[in-house]
Amino acid sequence: MLFNISDTPIASFDGDIALIFITEGSLDSHIQDRELLKRAGFKADQDEVVHLIEKQRLYVGISSLDPDSLRSASATAIRSVFCKSVYKHLAIAPFDSLDEYCMQAVCEGVLLGNYTFTRYKSKPTISNLEKVSIFLKDCNNATKETIQNSINNANIIANATNFSRDIVNTTPDDCYPEILAQIATKLCENSKLECNILRIKELEKQNMNALLAVARASRHEPCVIHLTHKPTKPKYVITLVGKGLTYDSGGLSLKPSASMVTMKSDKSGASAVLGIMKAIGELDLPIEVHGFIGAVENMIGGDAYKPDDVLYAKNGKTIEVRNTDAEGRLVLADVLSYAQQEVKADYIYDFATLTGACVVALGAYTIGIMGHSDAPKALLKEAAMNSGEMVTELHFNRYLKKLIKSEIADISNVSSSPYGGAVTAGLFLSEFINEENKDKWTHLDIAGPAFVEHTWGENPHGGSGAGVRLMVNLLQKLAN
Ligand code: BES
Ligand code: ZN
Ligand code: ZN
Repeated sequence: MLFNISDTPIASFDGDIALIFITEGSLDSHIQDRELLKRAGFKADQDEVVHLIEKQRLYVGISSLDPDSLRSASATAIRSVFCKSVYKHLAIAPFDSLDEYCMQAVCEGVLLGNYTFTRYKSKPTISNLEKVSIFLKDCNNATKETIQNSINNANIIANATNFSRDIVNTTPDDCYPEILAQIATKLCENSKLECNILRIKELEKQNMNALLAVARASRHEPCVIHLTHKPTKPKYVITLVGKGLTYDSGGLSLKPSASMVTMKSDKSGASAVLGIMKAIGELDLPIEVHGFIGAVENMIGGDAYKPDDVLYAKNGKTIEVRNTDAEGRLVLADVLSYAQQEVKADYIYDFATLTGACVVALGAYTIGIMGHSDAPKALLKEAAMNSGEMVTELHFNRYLKKLIKSEIADISNVSSSPYGGAVTAGLFLSEFINEENKDKWTHLDIAGPAFVEHTWGENPHGGSGAGVRLMVNLLQKLAN
């Protein structure tokens, strides 16, 4: 997508359609199409869209002039028109108090709203949007240079988010562990990123027995992917870990049919890590970032791991398996151990569609964050405010910790209580964080926002790319 900035009046625009933001309640002021909009019943509610076809104007409501409202409105407006029209050239009409943050949000909204996933459509309807001209106002307190910077950021971040969405949306038959490895390898071919893939022999050598047990019944061999972005004088070293269950059938503790649909999205943590690494490579941030992915398929079969098994995890702890559907924590246990063995990081963040309980607790729009220390969580909360993603902290406590005790092994893979499942899953992971890293680690449960059933804000049906904007924002903050 080509973006350009124009300080000529918008009347000079000779493209296809102009996008105009209207703040809720401002419809009575001197807006040019006021009467037409009123007749159409337009109230300028957030994300309400009216397309005046003959006027070549696309109006969208915003609740206020802030980045989150602008991002969501831009995406909704673009989605409503461009996925089927022949329009190629869009104008963004000038608006008040446009700063670099608003500008980035609008461009992100355009790119996220223009996203479609058509791989499995025999007659795909695609957007023809090629060019976006941004018209400025004299009163805008941002220079052309800062706006250009916002456009570049938006391009990299939104493209990385869409890249992550594509991976999540790909079916389990077309995206299994080896395909994730290929995607990672290809990502590194066109950049300075490095990639190391551990296949089954190395995983055995590394004693990653919990991960291997989950993978055993699948015809697809598992792998662990390690991506690295290594600048010369890094300000920080960050480790990211992603749950990459290319399919989660539940294993022998088989999921009910209705819950199994959408479980191609159980690789969303891995997809987020891939998207983040892509963006970090392109931004060339002065931060050393390591992305680790546990790529596994959880299936049933004569060789499947079983409830009652006891697994010997990489860090020496024994795990009683009481439910094979709590597989993500088993995979992450070993990948977290491996990541800590390989890299001494300042902060460790893991991304996982780990529990349905987190969705019950927080709803489908919010990432649950858990950890022992405030510093890495504070960074996430700030990045959430700036990126448009939402996080809420779930607190650990000693009583919930008792619920994952096992009679026969060091720890059980499920809680003995039906309540508090997001936190007990986080506490399970904590058992695989070395003592010296306890304060550096935060777990992000993205089970809610990772896969979208009903379009909301800038997120269409399917994979959302949850975690990408959040973490790129956090890393950009650390870089400055
Ligand atoms: N991948 C699921 C969690 C999930 C549920 C993600 C819904 C996205 C939407 C995970 O592996 C799982 O099955 N967790 C179980 C844990 C339980 C057996 C303790 C769950 O949440 O029911
Ligand atoms: Zn599961
Ligand atoms: Zn899972």
